[in-house]
Amino acid sequence: MPAIVVVGAQWGDEGKAKVIDLLAERADCIVRYQGGCNAGHTVMRNGETFKFHLVPSGILYPGKTCIIGPGTVIAPEVLQAELENLHARNINTSALYISSRAHITLPHHIAMDNLKEEALGDDQIGTTRRGIGPTYLDKVDRIGLRAGDLMLPDDLLRQKLNRVVRQKPTLNLDELLSICQHYRDILAPYIIDTTPLLGKVLTAHETLLLEGAQGTMLDLDHGTYPFVTSSNPTAGGACTGSGIGPRAISYVIGITKAYTTRVGSGPFPTELFDAAGEHLCTVGREFGTTTGRKRRCGWLDIPALQYAVQVNSLDALAVTKLDVLSGLPEIKICVAYRDLSDFPDQLEVLSQVEPVYEILPGWQESITHCRHLSDLPEAARTFLNRLSELAGVSVGMVSVGPNRGETIILADPVSTCANRLDVPLGSC
Ligand code: GDP
Ligand code: IMO
Ligand code: MG
Repeated sequence: MPAIVVVGAQWGDEGKAKVIDLLAERADCIVRYQGGCNAGHTVMRNGETFKFHLVPSGILYPGKTCIIGPGTVIAPEVLQAELENLHARNINTSALYISSRAHITLPHHIAMDNLKEEALGDDQIGTTRRGIGPTYLDKVDRIGLRAGDLMLPDDLLRQKLNRVVRQKPTLNLDELLSICQHYRDILAPYIIDTTPLLGKVLTAHETLLLEGAQGTMLDLDHGTYPFVTSSNPTAGGACTGSGIGPRAISYVIGITKAYTTRVGSGPFPTELFDAAGEHLCTVGREFGTTTGRKRRCGWLDIPALQYAVQVNSLDALAVTKLDVLSGLPEIKICVAYRDLSDFPDQLEVLSQVEPVYEILPGWQESITHCRHLSDLPEAARTFLNRLSELAGVSVGMVSVGPNRGETIILADPVSTCANRLDVPLGSC
């Protein structure tokens, strides 16, 4: 029963969707386990670009079971637009299921997200303003509305909503009911209790991929609080967010860019404001998939990566966007924070750390065509070796371009776990 977790090892946008898409070829079931439409997951296939917010990035393969898991929050109209877009491109979504336990984002959650951000002024988190925090807030407060509730007869749904209105008296019960009826029309074909389905997947020893959104540093408990999201992207969240136990997990792969990006506010020790930062942003096309915001760019941060290795029990790293470093005269890696041995728990400390850099030689040529380590320039191999040595974990994949095939596979988690070598990875 190989269950493989794909987790962001940085501040999100590491290229998780590309790795999921690649691994999904030989998986049977793909589960998005947390977050909502704050995520923007890009898959490029045969010159076509797909941007996912809620639908698991494995949907492009026909016949794979795709689940939007219990730990997610769903904005029905965003999902509807996403599905319409997929249908218009002849992508079959008949094997897509939504957990009846997932929570529903309602219009007042989005309004509240906006109000909270505006109230914070200069101190704002820089959320995606998709209502994510307020939806999780109501979940924790036990007045959330779950996808399964939408399927109740109107009188029972009204009773559920009445609980909400009693605690939020500015809301109108009739209006809320009619919104929920509309959401029911959108989501009804997909809502089931996904837990028995996952049980069958595991019992049948099928390969399960658990798709994280955001990244370790945006984790509510382990990230750079309060500049985090409101769920648990870390590997532990894959259990609670999907409905499997930790012993079912056989492999955890952490996705990291060869440098660092962050969207929104919060400390970023290796952030660049010079020509190298401009290179990373321009060559890496570092603009948010969901909000279009320019991503902040900086050098690779090893203390943060070591922390991600620990809190996720990473088996290996997939290093993405190595091609973006081509053309830089030199490449820096932050190998430590001066006078600190551990990744700091306090924001005040993290905002003041002084990165200690190691300088490595750059390489000038394009590497997008490389498919084996030996195809890479020596300087790129040196960079990867050093990254792996410092992070304390092996590099299992190297991505050298956005397309499915633009990847160097060193250790394939699917065959490592399932010992299935029948279909060569990236063959389509
Ligand atoms: P995710 O949220 O972790 O799935 O990542 P995003 O999709 O938000 O951002 C990653 C971006 O980098 C997308 O536009 C991908 O198409 C692109 N990408 C992924 N891997 C590579 C790579 O190795 N090289 C380049 N140049 N682009 C990549
Ligand atoms: P993917 O899955 C990068 C950031 C926001 C903000 C903080 C809180 O594509 O990697 P939220 O709307 O979640 O309350 O915002 O988290 N953020 C992301 N940054 N990638 C994402 O998702 C993100 N989802 C949220 O910018 O700083
Ligand atoms: Mg993204």
